[in-house]
Amino acid sequence: MPEPVSFQLTVNGQRRMGQCEPRKLLVDFLREDLGLTGTHVGCEHGICGACTVLVNGEAARSCLMLAVQADGAELQTVEGLMTDGKLHPLQEAFHEHHGLQCGFCTPGMLLTALDLLQTNPAPTEAEIRQGLSAVLCRCTGYQGIIKAVAAAAGALRSAG
Ligand code: FES
Ligand code: FES
Repeated sequence: MPEPVSFQLTVNGQRRMGQCEPRKLLVDFLREDLGLTGTHVGCEHGICGACTVLVNGEAARSCLMLAVQADGAELQTVEGLMTDGKLHPLQEAFHEHHGLQCGFCTPGMLLTALDLLQTNPAPTEAEIRQGLSAVLCRCTGYQGIIKAVAAAAGALRSAG
């Protein structure tokens, strides 16, 4: 068995140490070693988007990265969206506009939407559809999700 490798990273604003086999996937490290099970694992080969997290501010599939590749990186997972006990405007909007049913795709959808709104704060509906197209949802038919992201974009712009 390969020797464990040590590394460090920042997850949701907290410095964390990692030590695992070099072949361990980032999604498995987040879930099994850090206990951050909000990041879901679906297809494990980059198709479904359920495992999406932000790595240095950009959406990335954590099933396509090794944990050790996150050495020195800043990660945000769904657990880091709430602040001071308050839901993030995207979470509020998903709740309000029925942007989820089973919730399996939701963490990846939220982080993908966050990346989209950070780069394009006022997306058109077509841009939202395009921006979220890499995350698959088997329940909602997407309409509620699109509405939720548009509403969150408005809320985030008003909050300045
Ligand atoms: S679990 Fe990573 S893309 Fe499906
Ligand atoms: S809410 Fe079930 S997969 Fe999207």
